[in-house]
Amino acid sequence: MKKVYIETLGCQMNKSDSERISGILSQFGYDETTEEKEADLLIVNTCSIRQLSADKAYSLLGVWGKRKKDKPDIKIGICGCVAQQDKEKIRKRAPYVDLIFGTHNIYELPELIKKIENGEKICAITNKPVICNQNDFKIIRKDSVNAWIPIIEGCNNFCTYCVVPFTRGRERSRQPEEIIQEAKNIINEGFREITLLGQNVDSYGKDLNNPKITLANLLRDLNKLEGNFRIRFVTSYPSDITDDLINAVEECDKVCKYFHIPMQSGNSRILKEMNRHYTKQQYYETVEKIRKRFSNVAITSDFIAGFPGETEEEFQDTLNAMEELELDYSNTAAYSPRAFTKAGKMTDLFLSDEIKYERLNRLNEKNKEVCLKSNTKFIGKVLKVLVESKTLKDGKTILNSRADNNKIVHFESNKYDIGDFAEVKINLAQTWCLFGVAI
Ligand code: SAH
Ligand code: SF4
Ligand code: F3S
Repeated sequence: MKKVYIETLGCQMNKSDSERISGILSQFGYDETTEEKEADLLIVNTCSIRQLSADKAYSLLGVWGKRKKDKPDIKIGICGCVAQQDKEKIRKRAPYVDLIFGTHNIYELPELIKKIENGEKICAITNKPVICNQNDFKIIRKDSVNAWIPIIEGCNNFCTYCVVPFTRGRERSRQPEEIIQEAKNIINEGFREITLLGQNVDSYGKDLNNPKITLANLLRDLNKLEGNFRIRFVTSYPSDITDDLINAVEECDKVCKYFHIPMQSGNSRILKEMNRHYTKQQYYETVEKIRKRFSNVAITSDFIAGFPGETEEEFQDTLNAMEELELDYSNTAAYSPRAFTKAGKMTDLFLSDEIKYERLNRLNEKNKEVCLKSNTKFIGKVLKVLVESKTLKDGKTILNSRADNNKIVHFESNKYDIGDFAEVKINLAQTWCLFGVAI
């Protein structure tokens, strides 16, 4: 067997893609290795959400290019979101790259790999995704407890700051029966958690007619499958969360009471400039509606600091939203201009790095404060958790688990193991995690 090393940058969709790439390559004689130095084929699966992520990809290519000078037989590949948008640039900056393939071309790998083995240099980037049944291909999953299932790819929303519609294309839902089959395989293989993935999971099914399906009904169908497992879904778009979806989450015992709903900004003018299809008020109403329905629910979010033209007062609205909504956790980032996007062209409104990073710091401080507040609320409560890993500390076994509401919970026990569900009574809260005792 030859060896392939895959470096995965970016979101869960990329992580899931890498598991599929690894599976396909394994059928063509490549074993995945975690040792970069022993690899015959090096692949970087890239992210282009911010300039920093794209830069990482190019610096890695630089390192690998130098290695190829000493070992000319190694092959170098690049895929993912940077590859999809930057093929000419990659060719110029890293002419030694053997294989460039886009987010739409993963399932062409069997042919591509044969070609590079024959010494060809290949660039496979199309704007049309390859249509296939993904269950025909092997998947090598990295985790032993959680398994990802991409249910919808691409995005039609065109938020003015975001490159994803340009790197992932328009929305494409997978057929429900294909998803159910993948879920059955996962359950049979012993996984305890299924995470349904999509840039906008609530859009699932909008492009399918035969049969007509929604995310809510897909959850109901998956919930009927037999087995001891739980279901999550990410990422939700605030104004696309329907009452039927909330009902489905309530009805389905296997579906976690957890919502990741990026707000991006707490100010309605900025939201409009971002082309987000909701106001601050509407977001607040959605959060209130969800909190009323579920007692231990967690709601997490994403925020951008320093969008072009954002004033100090408008930024304050974001800090206030985090606090008033008692958000359980937020991913934060400073605005980064991206190619092809509308906001990327608003150059006269760009804020200085100094302002952006100063705001990001305050956002992170507020995030810490509200996370601790949120975690403290769980002291004395019992959460259902799934054990993900364990560590030995001073001769004791500490289990690292995640509650249904996505909170990280540590507890000491010799009774439970990785992949077990447990009920844990929380007795200590820190900023990023909870501690408790199994009951
Ligand atoms: N589909 C999801 C988000 C996908 S991108 C949604 O609609 O919310 C993940 C996160 O990256 C976004 O939520 C946003 O907060 C951040 N992001 C996207 N583009 C960005 C940019 N140009 N600069 C800074 N952060 C960005
Ligand atoms: Fe990007 Fe907006 Fe689509 Fe999310 S909804 S992927 S932020 S364009
Ligand atoms: Fe990055 Fe592409 Fe995901 S840009 S965040 S890897 S969809």
